[in-house]
Amino acid sequence: TAHIRAGLPLLDKKALVTAGPTFEAIDPVRFIGNHSSGKMGFAIAECLVSLGADVTLVTGPTAEKSNYNLRRVDVVSAAEMNEACLAYFTASDIIVMSAAVADYTPVQVASQKIKKADTEFHIALRKTTDILAGLGILKQKHQLLVGFALETENEADFAQQKLLKKNLDLIVLNSLNDDGAGFKTNTNKITIFNRALEKTVFELKSKHEVAADICKEILNLLV
Ligand code: CTP
Ligand code: CA
Repeated sequence: TAHIRAGLPLLDKKALVTAGPTFEAIDPVRFIGNHSSGKMGFAIAECLVSLGADVTLVTGPTAEKSNYNLRRVDVVSAAEMNEACLAYFTASDIIVMSAAVADYTPVQVASQKIKKADTEFHIALRKTTDILAGLGILKQKHQLLVGFALETENEADFAQQKLLKKNLDLIVLNSLNDDGAGFKTNTNKITIFNRALEKTVFELKSKHEVAADICKEILNLLV
């Protein structure tokens, strides 16, 4: 297929994409998770493959499958996702972090199933490592780092703050406000901010179309 791939814009690029939720164990049968389906990250990874990139997809627990020629690395917890990202980051030119990583994880994992007892039950949680912020610190000149932001208020302000604080090149703001946008659905409504804090607003689209829009913005920054 070499003659078919020739001419693709990302032929000499390596990409790292994260997708899906993370599951943080409470005991052998329970975890803290979220509703992320992984669809957005898979669509981005596949779009980058179709543009010629060598793609590593680090994914949390998801029902998604891909027939594309990519390297899939399955992880469960935020800590495992961090380790996998660190392993592939240095060799990557394009990094897109679309996973919905848990912000907190149980301080202790019970070795046996926790028995019910009192009316109230509390779980002590500890902050996870912010994977994206860590990569922002490690980032070199040739690397393009893209993050996501999910906000329910002051959307633009909070997204721009994350872009600067985490040393990103682009941030994709996911709007949950419109019907049909966000977790579990097949559509998303996004706004992309760059380092000049210029914004591009997109219509509600399928996640595959949204992935194409994100990849186009990435290509624009590479030329
Ligand atoms: N992220 C990450 N590691 C974490 C938490 C988040 O890499 N432990 C990444 C997500 O993959 C996403 C970006 O950070 O690309 C923003 O995630 P979001 O939840 O919107 O923001 P947070 O920085 O976690 O802040 P908050 O949840 O308080 O808004
Ligand atoms: Ca968060």
